[in-house]
Amino acid sequence: MVASDTSSDGRSPALLAEQVVQEFTVARSGSLRSAKVSAVAGVSFEVARGETLAIVGETGSGKTSLARTIIGAPHARGGRIDIAGQNVSSRSRKARHARHQLVQMIFQDPSSALDPTWSVERTVAEPLRRSNMTRKQRQDAVAECLRQVGLDPSIHGKRRPSELSGGQQQRVAIARALVCRPALVICDEPVTALDAATQAQVVELLAELKREFHLTYLLIAHDLAVVQQLADRVATMYLGKICEEASVSQLFRAPAHPYTAALLSAIPSFTPDERPRLRLLGEPPSPMDPPSGCRFRARCAFAQEVCAQIEPVKREIRPDHLVACHFPLDETGRPAPDAPAPFRTSGESASGPLVSAGSRRSPAEPPVPDAGTE
Ligand SMILES: Nc1ncnc2c1ncn2[C@@H]1O[C@H](COP(=O)(O)OP(=O)(O)O)[C@@H](O)[C@H]1O
Ligand code: SF4
Ligand SMILES: [Mg+2]
Repeated sequence: MVASDTSSDGRSPALLAEQVVQEFTVARSGSLRSAKVSAVAGVSFEVARGETLAIVGETGSGKTSLARTIIGAPHARGGRIDIAGQNVSSRSRKARHARHQLVQMIFQDPSSALDPTWSVERTVAEPLRRSNMTRKQRQDAVAECLRQVGLDPSIHGKRRPSELSGGQQQRVAIARALVCRPALVICDEPVTALDAATQAQVVELLAELKREFHLTYLLIAHDLAVVQQLADRVATMYLGKICEEASVSQLFRAPAHPYTAALLSAIPSFTPDERPRLRLLGEPPSPMDPPSGCRFRARCAFAQEVCAQIEPVKREIRPDHLVACHFPLDETGRPAPDAPAPFRTSGESASGPLVSAGSRRSPAEPPVPDAGTE
């Protein structure tokens, strides 16, 4: 396997997403009328070649829907997706074929992502089905890729998924994703289904492969330690929108969006003592009926009237640090000194103060932002 660079121009980003929208039509409970769920509500971002961008956010924020839209899920409703300079947004056969070569995905649960009746060799060879390689070249590529993910082609090649451990299954899924040298690899919670010891090995494998082959990952992960280990940049997603984007070091040191700050506050080791801790109150609103203005306002300690009226757009507040908030937090974790007093005060909260300087959550509470179930 060689470095991932399948585009002819060599200059465009690995991924360019512009105003991507994905909607589902669902039945409304207690009503005969259907409703529209905006799982991805106009998302734009870029991933440079060789970069890993992590997407974090609570369950239901639209991370998997975004990933599936990029790999060509049928519910995409709008926007443009370019991978390595090629527009793959259309439904044409040509675009679908290009997409198959350019982007591959590693799913959360390898046991359900692999066909139980297929051997490891057949599974890993599948993305090469439409290549013009000879049979021998395909076999060699599969064997090489298996070795690169730490499997022995002569031992594991003929096995079925049920004859492998969870970690080995995820290695097979990684080999399948990498065998056609895609320009972009999407990893959707790649270690969540594995036990702790295996998680560490698979994260290390993904890091090694990235270093060796200059891979580009779009990483969806709720474990911020995994994000810290693998990612260069992080984007926070809330109710179908990206609300903040920055380098890992910048975002973890000085999150500017109250939502990101609240996610990080849930993990003691990620928020220095001197920064105020923000509590994430209540549940996210339904994507069937998102609030006007800022989608986070019902849960935000700093909401003002303008937050209900005008949707904040992503803007650069520091070099390479983008945030969609009318009153971003400064480097000390507080709204800028000239920001008006909160529209909703902490005293109005039924569940205690919204902002608690220095208070820590108990380490016994789940140390993950993705607090729901997948
Ligand atoms: N196939 C589907 N049909 C209807 N709604 C869906 C479907 N898939 C996801 N959703 C909804 O879209 C929203 C985003 O879900 P998802 O992309 O899975 O979020 P995440 O990966 O961040 O947990 C949720 O409200 C979810 O219920
Ligand atoms: S301050 Fe306003 S715009 Fe910023 S996150 Fe809170 S509600 Fe949204
Ligand atoms: Mg998901």
